[in-house]
Amino acid sequence: MSFKKPKIALVGAGQIGGTMALLAAQKQLGDVLLVDVVEGVPQGKSLDILHGGPIIPTSSQMSGSNDYAALKDSNVIIVTAGLPRKPGMSRDDLLDVNFGIIKTVGEHIKKSAPNAFVIVVTNPLDAMVYAMHRVTGFPTNRVVGMAGVLDSGRFAALVAEELNVSAEDVTALVMGGHGDTMVPLIRYCSVGGIPVTQLLSKEKLDAISKRTANAGGEVVALLKTGSAFYSPALSAIHMAEAYLKDKRSVITAAAMLNGEYGYKGMYAGVPVILGGNGLEKVIEVELDADEKKSFETSMEAVKSLVEWVDKKMAG
Ligand code: APR
Repeated sequence: MSFKKPKIALVGAGQIGGTMALLAAQKQLGDVLLVDVVEGVPQGKSLDILHGGPIIPTSSQMSGSNDYAALKDSNVIIVTAGLPRKPGMSRDDLLDVNFGIIKTVGEHIKKSAPNAFVIVVTNPLDAMVYAMHRVTGFPTNRVVGMAGVLDSGRFAALVAEELNVSAEDVTALVMGGHGDTMVPLIRYCSVGGIPVTQLLSKEKLDAISKRTANAGGEVVALLKTGSAFYSPALSAIHMAEAYLKDKRSVITAAAMLNGEYGYKGMYAGVPVILGGNGLEKVIEVELDADEKKSFETSMEAVKSLVEWVDKKMAG
């Protein structure tokens, strides 16, 4: 019997891609490949991390390439290829240009790594993960989007900050599309098992919900030249780890709905079980009338994106 380390390919070697490469090496998730269209960048970043290998320490092998053929036989592919948001730009403004990029990348993934588990990070997320599914034709348990881990993490982090407690003790659930209409489910947030509603006032929690929905924009406004990358990288690697270690983690991810929550054929941020088969199950939580209404509003926004992608695919 022989074993081989998993191959983790990161398409897009920018801010998120580079950070993920370091995290994957630190966690020894497998061998790491960076792919980007800019000459020298994936090679340079992988060489830089390789030099730090003995210091981390890690046994992960690092490589970089400008050739999609290098994706061959990847086990996990995380896609951040695309343009990030600039100040004043919505995620949807990115739609057209990033769709073209996802189409190219998806066609190469289909050819070179037909068995890969694919995590899409490129924005606008709900549209790009749907496009990736359409382009590759991969089953929906192998094409998921990274958004819910991040949105839920942001909510939990703000709750922890407000309460002055450890962030690791807070769990939160933010559902819906990855945009301004996302739905933080306040009553599902808990702190060391205690419902957050017993610890913070409604006003405080409403303010945290609002800040969570705008959290990406807040970072963009501060950075001015790009969008958030540390927390998105941590979130995507968290998902890859759940798959590679068959953890059966209960997390929020952009998953294709097949009747759950009353929707079919659309991706949405929902709680799922992530394990060795990829997306093992969508979990349906109970929503009250207000939560349902917010979820439906969020899904309206996703629906228009999906229709846009369908039109592009047909044309
Ligand atoms: N193939 C491979 N890489 C590509 C392609 C392509 N066709 N087109 C662009 N890229 C690369 C760019 O050269 C760049 O290095 O994708 C990388 C994107 O990196 P950044 O610009 O640093 O963006 P980043 O902050 O990493 O965000 C990437 O994730 O959260 C989303 O909105 C964000 O859509 C954006 C994506």
